[in-house]
Amino acid sequence: MTDTIKEHALDAAEFRRALGAFVTGVTVVTTIQPDGSPRGFTANSFTSVSLDPPLILVCIAKTASSHAVFSTTDHFAVSVLAENQKAVSGVFASKMADKFAQVDWHTRATGAPLMKGAAASFDCKTHDVVDAGDHIILIGRVIDFTHTTSSPLGYCRGAYVNFSLSQEALAATGSHAKVGAILELDDGIVLLDTPNGLELPAGIRLEPSSDANSLRGVLASLGLDAHLDFLFAVFEEGTRHAPGVHVYYRGRVSSDGLAPRSARVRVVPLSGMPWDRIRDDAVRAMLQRYVRERSEDAFGIYVGDTASGKVQSLAPSH
Ligand SMILES: Cc1cc2nc3c(=O)[nH]c(=O)nc-3n(C[C@H](O)[C@H](O)[C@H](O)COP(=O)(O)O)c2cc1C
Repeated sequence: MTDTIKEHALDAAEFRRALGAFVTGVTVVTTIQPDGSPRGFTANSFTSVSLDPPLILVCIAKTASSHAVFSTTDHFAVSVLAENQKAVSGVFASKMADKFAQVDWHTRATGAPLMKGAAASFDCKTHDVVDAGDHIILIGRVIDFTHTTSSPLGYCRGAYVNFSLSQEALAATGSHAKVGAILELDDGIVLLDTPNGLELPAGIRLEPSSDANSLRGVLASLGLDAHLDFLFAVFEEGTRHAPGVHVYYRGRVSSDGLAPRSARVRVVPLSGMPWDRIRDDAVRAMLQRYVRERSEDAFGIYVGDTASGKVQSLAPSH
């Protein structure tokens, strides 16, 4: 630290939120422990380090139960999960007794388990282990790798991201499209109170905001200054005669951006969703998935911070 840079206490929850803005993939890091059994955990801290020699790294929390095993192992493997492998991520982020019985795996050069169907994999000899605060940095020298054309699973702001959805959404140009948004504000989701129960803001196309029937137009008329980050879901719903494609984005409304012009706007805490008031079955199932994935926030889990369970009560906006 120099004289000009002063350290001051950081707000841990805000620090985690800021880190969550960095979009990552999701990996499973594995090894074989001394008794011959496989060991593994989910990690999004994977980073490429060097091409020559070929080095990669992953950070492991000292609070992880497999920390001791990985800090002493002489080999390990990293499987970069494909977007249909959210369940695999969930298994390896858990404390389940036999994680490997839940998944298909195989071995290649080092004997460390590799997830079948992964987008890519790196089989490594341990190059170095560096102590770093409440984590260790495990650096691996890659001795074998694989890659496929599968879309990788993404992760951002505590929830999974599907990159390939963009292409599907572009194809959804039919006249019966519904384009909606799951918008977060602090620890809540923006819903509209309608005679048909609680609904997500939606239009029949995305833009422009001058079009009252577009999602951007609906958000503007509600007085919501929203940022749409990613596509979250694309599904077909409707009648046989009028099939419709539903496209849902995930995004955020900043506290400053909440100047609702409509008494219909509600901000409902993620942990207290009134599921019976969300009458659309497909939307309810989608939101339940969103809340479930959101609660697997990596930093919330592995730093073991109790704040991740904290519910910030947000009074209805009106
Ligand atoms: C998407 C995601 C990313 C994660 N990234 C990491 C990581 O980079 N390092 C880490 O130590 N834990 C990470 N975790 C948490 C561990 O997977 C979790 O604590 C796991 O229980 C550790 O397994 P173990 O207790 O068997 O060692 C992540 C969890 C999720 C869901």
